[in-house]
Amino acid sequence: MAPEMSADVRIGPDDIRRRKRGVPIVCLTAYTYPVARLLDDHVDLLLVGDSVAMVLHGHKTTLGASLEMMIAHGQAVMRGSAKACVVVDMPAGSYETSAAQALASARRVIDETGCQAVKLEGGIDVAEQIAAIVAAGIPVMGHIGLQPQSVEKDGGYKIKGRTEENMVALFRDGEAVEKAGAFSLVIEGTVETVATELTRRLSIPTIGIGASADCDGQILVIDDMVGLTVDRVPKFVKEYAELRGVVSDAAARYAAEVRSRAFPGPDHVFPSTSGKDKA
Ligand code: KIV
Repeated sequence: MAPEMSADVRIGPDDIRRRKRGVPIVCLTAYTYPVARLLDDHVDLLLVGDSVAMVLHGHKTTLGASLEMMIAHGQAVMRGSAKACVVVDMPAGSYETSAAQALASARRVIDETGCQAVKLEGGIDVAEQIAAIVAAGIPVMGHIGLQPQSVEKDGGYKIKGRTEENMVALFRDGEAVEKAGAFSLVIEGTVETVATELTRRLSIPTIGIGASADCDGQILVIDDMVGLTVDRVPKFVKEYAELRGVVSDAAARYAAEVRSRAFPGPDHVFPSTSGKDKA
């Protein structure tokens, strides 16, 4: 049963920023109303990640996400949450061209969903975009390290920070994102020591995924965390439940009962004598 939705005030980006070196920040992705309802009481931040393109829509990469898709899922998560800080991902193609393009897209996301902040991938290459969005009063979460939107360019999902050159680039990127005004930074798929050192260097909270337990917070993709992912599950995921089996078993029992006419039973139909009109 989903808890009743009640919160005096939502957690905001400034609250998240103040949690630097404090109690770890709990983040999960969410894409739908019911899942947002179930998670809202337990997390500090819900990310409507562009991973929705893969997780819910079956695309091979996050490049299948569009601004319209992100807005529709952002609206659903806002309807299903009252307490968590909701951040919506800017999909590939919606911000890279210029600061003006990035700001126009971020404005659409905020205006059409009512979410608290946007997230975009990249370091020094998108610092101008981050600065423009922040200057317009829209909080931004950064995302460096393994950047799923660049996976085709990178030739696969590769762990970052293994070479001295790449490590230096990650430090430079993290510092550029902070300087541009982001309130927090996702660090994905890096060597552990790099995420630990970035967390030490930066004054904004770092949110790790496949990064380090030293990060100021952690995030996982909800379907991975509850064991619903049917394709490859990354090494950094811990499954806290195994819902694949639960769903598949329920479907098998339902199918058997429909075929044997055991379902619907007397409790699931409306006999003409019951007088009850409510479904
Ligand atoms: O899109 C997403 O779900 C993300 C998280 C994995 C951080 O960016």
